[in-house]
Amino acid sequence: MTNAQSVSDHWGKGDVYARILEAMKLAEIDPNFATIEDLAPVDHFHARGFAGTVDLADVLPIQEGDRLVDIGCGIGGPARYLAKRFHCHVDGLDITEPFVEAAERLSMLVGMEDMVEFRHGDGQKLPYKNEAFDGGYAQHVTMNVPDRDAFFADAFRVLKPGAFFALTEHGLGEVWEPHHPVPWSEDGTGAHLMRPSDTVAALERAGFSRIQVTNTGAKYLQGYRAAIERSEKGEAPVFGVHILLGELAPQIVRNAARNIEEDRTHPVQIVCFKSK
Ligand SMILES: C[S@@+](CC[C@H](N)C(=O)[O-])C[C@H]1O[C@@H](n2cnc3c(N)ncnc32)[C@H](O)[C@@H]1O
Repeated sequence: MTNAQSVSDHWGKGDVYARILEAMKLAEIDPNFATIEDLAPVDHFHARGFAGTVDLADVLPIQEGDRLVDIGCGIGGPARYLAKRFHCHVDGLDITEPFVEAAERLSMLVGMEDMVEFRHGDGQKLPYKNEAFDGGYAQHVTMNVPDRDAFFADAFRVLKPGAFFALTEHGLGEVWEPHHPVPWSEDGTGAHLMRPSDTVAALERAGFSRIQVTNTGAKYLQGYRAAIERSEKGEAPVFGVHILLGELAPQIVRNAARNIEEDRTHPVQIVCFKSK
């Protein structure tokens, strides 16, 4: 099995859109009147969820009318949020086909199909023209990417001079190796973590400059601990990312916290630019 297939199989089990609709009904969210705020507990599918997307958006120099690329867009929550907040257009791409289908259908559900569009593909070989975008980002994607040089080089290629590129990821900590399962891998298969300093070096090799790295470990840890506490008290929300993570969700969240505490993973947010 190729790395792409195993990554896709890991993330997109079954009919993702049907599972989300089913969970909406359980949470008494009427799909006919759903808003992007209603979807936020599920469709920002990364550490800290919606709060993490807002933190990233707050530091990005996005202008009204921009065209952005979201590499590894998942089911499209961040793309829809940025498009609505900044009145821009977002092209999302993801390697997991059921996620792309869910992203399209959820966008139709909330009437945003004119502001976002989604394609199935691999971030290591983007199906876009050179210098097509004013900015790009990959939120919690690169943990599954074996060839960072190809991934960053193609991001660089599709960005206009002066554009920003942002990524958030769980970098590798000083202690080998992470406890599994984690969100991006059940047993280490398809996992390609890198130390933050190596990620910065790869971004530089691709041509990016003005690289700013923020350690997000403490914030993520706080988020994971809060989720663990809610779950232990039986207060986990009906409509939450466990719908996508599956039955291993409690163990995954515990390991994600433990890995940061034991310096096995080192989460970072990185913002950089393609020089003019
Ligand atoms: C944790 S989810 C994040 C989804 C989305 N970025 C978000 O923040 O809601 C990781 C996503 O990365 C995607 N992914 C992993 N490797 C990829 C690759 N090489 N190209 C495109 N997408 C990829 C997975 O399919 C999955 O949707």
